[in-house]
Amino acid sequence: MMRKRLAFASTPKPYLTFFLLLFSLQLSLVAHASDFKRETIYQIITDRFFDGSSANNNPPQSAGIYDATKTNWRAYWGGDFAGIQQKMSYLAGLGVTAIWISPPVDNLNLNIADGAGNPTASYHGYQGRDFKRIEEHFGNPNNTWTEFDNLVAAAHQNGIKVIIDFAPNHSTQDNAGEFGALHDNGRLLGNFRDDGNGLFHHNPNISGGGWDDRYQVQYYTLFDLADLNQENATIDAYLKDAAKLFQQHGVDGFRIDAVKHVTWGWEYSLANSIYANGDSFLFGEWYQGNTTDPLYRDSYKFANKSGIALLDFPLNTAIRNVFAGNANFSELDRVISDEAAAFTWDEDLVTFIDNHDMARFLSISNNNNRLHQALAFILTARGIPTIYYATEQYLHNDTSGGNDPYNRPMMQSFDNTTTAYKLVGKLSTLRRSNPAIGYGSTRSRWLNRDVYIYERKFFGSVVLAAINKNETEAASITGLKTSLPQGSYADYLAAMLGGSAIKVNAGSGGENAVTDFTLPAHTVAVWQFTETVGAPEIGSIGPTVAQPGVKITIGGKNFGALKGSVKFGAAPATVNSWSPTKIVVTVPAITNGNYNLSVTNSAGHVSNGIQFTTLTARLIPVTFTVHNATPTRVGDYIFLTGNTIELGQWATTWDRAIGPMMAPNYPHWFLCASVPAGETIQFKFVKIAADNSVTWEAGPNHSFTVPTTGAGFVNVNWQY
Ligand code: NOJ
Ligand code: NOJ
Repeated sequence: MMRKRLAFASTPKPYLTFFLLLFSLQLSLVAHASDFKRETIYQIITDRFFDGSSANNNPPQSAGIYDATKTNWRAYWGGDFAGIQQKMSYLAGLGVTAIWISPPVDNLNLNIADGAGNPTASYHGYQGRDFKRIEEHFGNPNNTWTEFDNLVAAAHQNGIKVIIDFAPNHSTQDNAGEFGALHDNGRLLGNFRDDGNGLFHHNPNISGGGWDDRYQVQYYTLFDLADLNQENATIDAYLKDAAKLFQQHGVDGFRIDAVKHVTWGWEYSLANSIYANGDSFLFGEWYQGNTTDPLYRDSYKFANKSGIALLDFPLNTAIRNVFAGNANFSELDRVISDEAAAFTWDEDLVTFIDNHDMARFLSISNNNNRLHQALAFILTARGIPTIYYATEQYLHNDTSGGNDPYNRPMMQSFDNTTTAYKLVGKLSTLRRSNPAIGYGSTRSRWLNRDVYIYERKFFGSVVLAAINKNETEAASITGLKTSLPQGSYADYLAAMLGGSAIKVNAGSGGENAVTDFTLPAHTVAVWQFTETVGAPEIGSIGPTVAQPGVKITIGGKNFGALKGSVKFGAAPATVNSWSPTKIVVTVPAITNGNYNLSVTNSAGHVSNGIQFTTLTARLIPVTFTVHNATPTRVGDYIFLTGNTIELGQWATTWDRAIGPMMAPNYPHWFLCASVPAGETIQFKFVKIAADNSVTWEAGPNHSFTVPTTGAGFVNVNWQY
C-alpha cells in the first residue's frame, strides 16, 4: 500500500480516482480487523503448505538449507507465498476468513546444530535477521516484497485477512550462526557478541524456576535466541517501524510470538503504535498450562490493559484432556467460566486444538470423531477459532510422539470433500450469520463426563450446541432448558455429525423446556435462532484501549442503515462510517479513563454499553526504578501508581496498580511501563503486601515529563 500511495503522487487524476475507488472497494471487503470475533483463522507454516514457485527454493545467499526430497525435517521444503496464493480458493472454500502465516521476515541464512546436533534451518521463521525485508525462501532472492504483496492482495480479494507472526523478542541464535546480527533493511544495526549500543540483553537462558519468575521470563534468554532490548530507543523504533511497514503492506493483524518473554510494559506501547497506525487485531502467545499457572493473573492483567488478546492456552489444555483424553467435560466448562471472570474481553481469546509447538491432535488421539468434536467445539465456543493447517485433511506424522518437527509435515492433499473441511465451512458460516457465537455469553445447560450442552446467547440470538463424546453409548437428554424460542429446530449441521432436530416448548424467562431426546454416541448437534429485529446491540469493540484521535470499530447488530450517534460516557464521538453491523468512530478528546460506550440508532434507541479505555496520549515506554524501597517479605511487591489511567489513577490494588515491579537487585525495584507522551505525570511507589495491605512511600508525589519519542528512564529513591 505504501508503494501504491507513492505511485498516486505522480499519476494523472482520472487514474487516481479509479485507483482510489478500487482501493475503497477493497477496504470495504476486508476492513475492520479490529473486530475479529466473528472470524475463523487458519494457521499456516508457510514452508510446509505449498511450493508455488521453484525460483526461491535454493536462493544464493542461503544456499544448501533446502531439501528437495522433503525428508530432512529440519530443512526448508519449498512452501512459499506463491503457494499459499495458488491455494486461495481452497482456503476460501474451507470457510476460513483469516490466515496466520509464519514470520515472513528475512531469517537466518545458515543451518545451526540443534540440541541433538542436527543441522537446523530457520524454515519456521522464528530467527529474524532483518525485520524490514522478506525471507528469500518465501518471496524472492532479492528479499523484496512482490510475492508478499501479491499474497495479501489475493487473500483480500477472497475476503480473507492476513495475520503475520511477529517475533519482537529476539533475532537469531546468540552463540552460533549469525550470532544475533540484526539488519535494518540491509544495514547492519549490531550483533550480540559486539553490542556496544546495548541492543540486546545479555543474560543466561531461562530455566527451571525461572519460567515463573517475572524478571527472568522477560529479561533472560529464550532458547539461546539473542534477546532484544526493547527499552533501547533504536530497538524500540526498529520494531515499531517494522510492524508499521507490514501494516502499510496490507497486513490485518499480528500474532505476537513469545509475548510473555518480551518486556510487558513495552508491548503496551507496541500495541498502541500499531493501533494508531490503523485498524488491526493483535494476539499474543502467552504460554501457560492452565488457570492455576503462577503467572495466570499477570496474563489477564496484561490482556485487559494492553489491548492485546491472547492465545487461549488454558482452554487448549482442557480441550486436549477432554477430547483427546477422557477428562470430564467439567474441566472445559470450568476454564470457560474462570476466564470469563478474569478477561474483560474473553471473546477475543484465540482458541485452538493444536499448533506447531505441540503434537497434532490426531497424534495424541487417532480418532476422527473426537477431532470433529473438538473442531465443532472451538467453532461454536467463545473465542476466535484457529485451525492448524492440514487438520481438515487429517494429516499427522507420529514420529517421536508427533512433536516438533513432526507436527509440521508437508500438506499432501487439498481435498475439499472431507467431513472436517465441510464442518469448518458450515460453522464458520454460522459464526458470520449468528452473532451469538462471536459475541455471546456462554452457559452450561447439561454437563457430565461425556456430554456437554452449552448455550451461546447474544440478546435474542441463540446457539445451542450438544456434544456426546462417548464412542458407544447414547445419552438420554431429559429436562433440558434453553433460551431458544418455542419451535422446532433442525440440526444446523444437517446430521453431518449424527445430530437431529429438537422441539422447544413454550416457557418463560429464557427457560423453555426441550422435549426429551436421545443424543447418539459420538454426536455433535447445533441448533440456532438468529434474531431479526431489536434495539441496537454492541458485541465488540476494538482496539479496546486507545487515545483521542484513534479510530475504533464497534461491532454488533441493529445499528440501522441510517447514521445515528455514538457516545463515550456522555461525550459524543465523530462517526467515520456506519452500517447496520459495524461503526467506525474516532475517540473524542475526553479525559483519560474507563468509559462505557453506547450507540444510539437513528430512531433514538440506545444500545447496551461496552467498556473502553481512553488513554491520555500516545504511549512511550519508560523504565521506572525506585532505589532502597521499603522492606518486603515473600509475597509482598512494590507497585507503581500515579495520576493517569496508564498509571492506574492512584489505585493500590494488585489488579489496578502498575506492576508488580521486579527486584533482581533487591531492594532496588524496576518496571518498564508505557506512559503518555509529552505528559507531566505524577506518581508514587507503594508496597502491596501479600495480605493486600498497602504502604505508601512518604513525601510529595514524584513528577516526570515523558519524552515524545524514544524511551524514557526514571530513577528515584523511595521516600521515607
Ligand atoms: C514460540 C513459537 O511458537 C515457537 O515455534 C518458536 O520456536 C518460539 N516461540 C521462539 O520464537
Ligand atoms: C494518596 C497518597 O497517600 C499520597 O502520598 C499521594 O500523593 C496521593 N494519594 C496522590 O493523590
